[in-house]
This record gives sequence, structure tokens and C-alpha cells, in this order.
Amino acid sequence: MRIVLDTDPGVDDAFAIFYLAAQPDVELVAVGSVHGNVPAPVAADNALRLLDLVGLTEVPVAVGAREPLVQPLHTAEFVHGPDGLGGHAGPLSSRRPVAESAAEQLVRLARAHPAELTVVALGPLTNIALATMLEPTLPRLVKSLTVMGGAVTVPGNITPYADANTWHDPEATDIVLRAGFDLTLVGLDVTETARADFAWLNRLAALDSDRARYAHAIVAHYADLYATLLGEKVFTLHDPLAAALTVDPALATHRELVLAVELTGTHTRGQIVADLRVLARETNIESSIGQARRAAKVVESVQSGPFL
Ligand code: BDR
Ligand code: CA
Repeated sequence: MRIVLDTDPGVDDAFAIFYLAAQPDVELVAVGSVHGNVPAPVAADNALRLLDLVGLTEVPVAVGAREPLVQPLHTAEFVHGPDGLGGHAGPLSSRRPVAESAAEQLVRLARAHPAELTVVALGPLTNIALATMLEPTLPRLVKSLTVMGGAVTVPGNITPYADANTWHDPEATDIVLRAGFDLTLVGLDVTETARADFAWLNRLAALDSDRARYAHAIVAHYADLYATLLGEKVFTLHDPLAAALTVDPALATHRELVLAVELTGTHTRGQIVADLRVLARETNIESSIGQARRAAKVVESVQSGPFL
């Protein structure tokens, strides 16, 4: 599987990169950074550090969108630490990002390898939306798109209804949901069930490897925040689960649902909306969501596997 990764590392993004790097059947073709957990240039520096750590020193990293399409930039250092990697990012890589933008890189690669590339988006969808605007046939040029984002049947995390990725750029999410990708949505519905607990963190600390030591150092800030919020030291594996379900979709069940994103709600902006009414399914009644859109595969349950 040839993957182009779009990401905002971010502690759980870092673990997704570790996971993908360890998969024998995955070729990481390129990485694009995006604003989200940290500004896009910081996310690119982190991606380069992480790729160095796992020995993927040839994989290019392009800096992506520095801000959302419409709203001002918000970042989440309070969750991921001042440098996005728990305050333990470490020295800069000796490599620098490539000159093209993440959207340009994705379009160029998709044109060069039609229907071969799987796109995995672990941050706000600004780059994917910009790439779709540059190349409107992108949804057909790539094989599929996995999006970590949304909270279709459960509460949000950054607002009562929205997950951080969709809330950080609702207009970009809207463009991507309308574009016609073969899209799998891995939302908080399932990622909130994929939590590494204190025992797991201790096992990680005990491993004798540079990668494990680095991983344990960067996760501490995140786990400490959760200890304060929930009274429990845990690490939620949002992005690693999205990566794992891209590599092995058989681990999950999904529902085909037409999706929209709320753009105007005072309390609900950034919420992913699906028509879950039984009546809507059985009678195909008129829905405000627009039945003409291609349905997305919304992951609804995950078997016990590497993360659960
Ligand atoms: C998503 O938001 C970010 O904080 C995480 O990296 C993940 O991609 C979860 O809502
Ligand atoms: Ca992320």
C-alpha cells in the first residue's frame, strides 16, 4: 500500500507515523504537514524528526496550509506540548522540507500515479481541500482517503459536537465531503475507545530502544493532561487507529452514510452530521444533507486488535 500522509504532529500523529513505519506492506511515499495541533512549519519539522527516528530519511516532507480556509488559526499546544511533541521534540532534523506545498505535492503525486495512492489525513483537511481545488479530479486520481475526524454519534472533544480536526477547518471539511472521494471516516466514535492506559505506558518505558524512549518522553505531557481531566493517565490513539484501519480495514465494521459538516451553528460549527434516523434509511425521505453526495464509510466498531 502506497500512502501519502497528511498530518499535524502532534503526539498521536507521531505514534501513527511509528505504526506506519513498522508495517512491511506500507510504502510511505510523502508527508504533508498541516496547521492543527501546531503551526504547519512546526508540524513539518516534527514530521522530519519522526521520520529520521524510524529510518525513513528519504521520505519528503512538504509544508502545508498555515491557516484554515476561512477562520483564524487555532492550535492545540495545551494538549500536545509547546513543540507539539510533549516538549521533547529534540533537535531539528538535518533535512529540510521540500519547496512545493503539501497540496501541490499531493496533486503532483496523484497525477503521476493515478489510482495508486492512499491518502491518510490525520489533521484538519485544509491541504486536501486545496489539492481538490487545484485538481478537481483528485477524488478519482487517488485510490482512497482515510480521514481521522468527526464525532458522528458521540460528543466532540474540542467543542460539545466537533472533534478538533473538523473544527480546525470546517470549510475545508465541507469541500472534501462534497468532492466524491472513496472516504473512510474514523471518528471519535471509535478512536475514543482506543486508549493506552498507565500499564501500557509503563511497558513502553521499559523497552530498551531509542524509539521507545522517545515515544515515552513525548507522550507524558498528553497523558498528564488526561490525568488532570479524567483522573486517569491515558493516551487516546486517534491517529494510530485511523492509520491501522487504513492498513487493515477488516479490523472494523462501518456504515455507509452521507455526511455533511455544520458551517453556521453557533454551538455546532465543525460538527459532522449524518442522517441516522431509521426513517431516513428505510424510506429514503428527503434529507437536508443532500442524498446526491457519495456516501462515506463511517467506522462504527473496531475488533480487538493491536490497539484495544
Ligand atoms: C484529532 O485532533 C488532534 O488533536 C489529534 O492529533 C487527532 O488527529 C483528534 O480529535
Ligand atoms: Ca492529528
